[in-house]
Amino acid sequence: MRLVIEGLCVEVAGKEVLRGLDLSMDSGEVHVIMGPNGSGKSTLAHALAARPGYVVTAGSVTLGTTDVLALSASERARAGLLLALQQPLEVPGVRPLEMLRAAGADPVGLRERMSAEAARLGLRDEVLDRFVNVDLSGGERKRAEVVQVGVLRPAFAVFDEIDSGLDVDALGAVARRLDAATREWGCGVLAITHFRRLLHELTPTKIHVVSAGRVVATGGPELAEVLERDGYEPFRALP
Ligand SMILES: Nc1ncnc2c1ncn2[C@@H]1O[C@H](COP(=O)(O)OP(=O)(O)O)[C@@H](O)[C@H]1O
Ligand SMILES: [Mg+2]
Repeated sequence: MRLVIEGLCVEVAGKEVLRGLDLSMDSGEVHVIMGPNGSGKSTLAHALAARPGYVVTAGSVTLGTTDVLALSASERARAGLLLALQQPLEVPGVRPLEMLRAAGADPVGLRERMSAEAARLGLRDEVLDRFVNVDLSGGERKRAEVVQVGVLRPAFAVFDEIDSGLDVDALGAVARRLDAATREWGCGVLAITHFRRLLHELTPTKIHVVSAGRVVATGGPELAEVLERDGYEPFRALP
């Protein structure tokens, strides 16, 4: 299956933030988005997640033959798109088990599968019985989102600031889990990150540099070294 984003333009609060963003990836691939603060990375994640206030004014997003932009947030999840935002939303009154059932997870042995995934990530099991994201540390939230990946087995998982709030050990565990997901069921992983550390255990198929709302460069893993050395300045798009 292929996820194709073409010419995506998104307005936020009356301002055009994404200005013709193109990106496509196949199942089983790992694509990484890097870029300076304010370049529109989170806006892409929000628009894919159908968050209110992120208005798509042009372009298309297709998952196989499905027009993603025509679907509601929950329909997108059922179509196989899992979106983990930079600040995971708190859902008081709803526990992860109920949320995963609502998202279409097979109820048979669900709690056990959740426990097995949490153990792989070094997430305390007790966290799985609290309300979704309520009173969780940043690192616990990220790991709880990755538990969802292992349980729901989405076709594509998109992570905004995948490494924020994670210590190096947790980052390694998350990276290894997602790397395994690409092989276990051909999960496609689109990860937004600032840090090269993640790429030690999750080898990207491609790295995309986003600047001023567009992909301005695409390359292989070596692009991360170039960014580390030269920063984003050489890639900055004209405003
Ligand atoms: N909800 C919002 N309201 C107003 N401006 C926003 C909102 N979300 C994003 N923006 C603006 O859009 C631009 C891109 O933001 P964002 O996508 O969060 O960047 P990044 O994730 O790459 O740091 C910034 O100028 C930001 O201020
Ligand atoms: Mg962001």
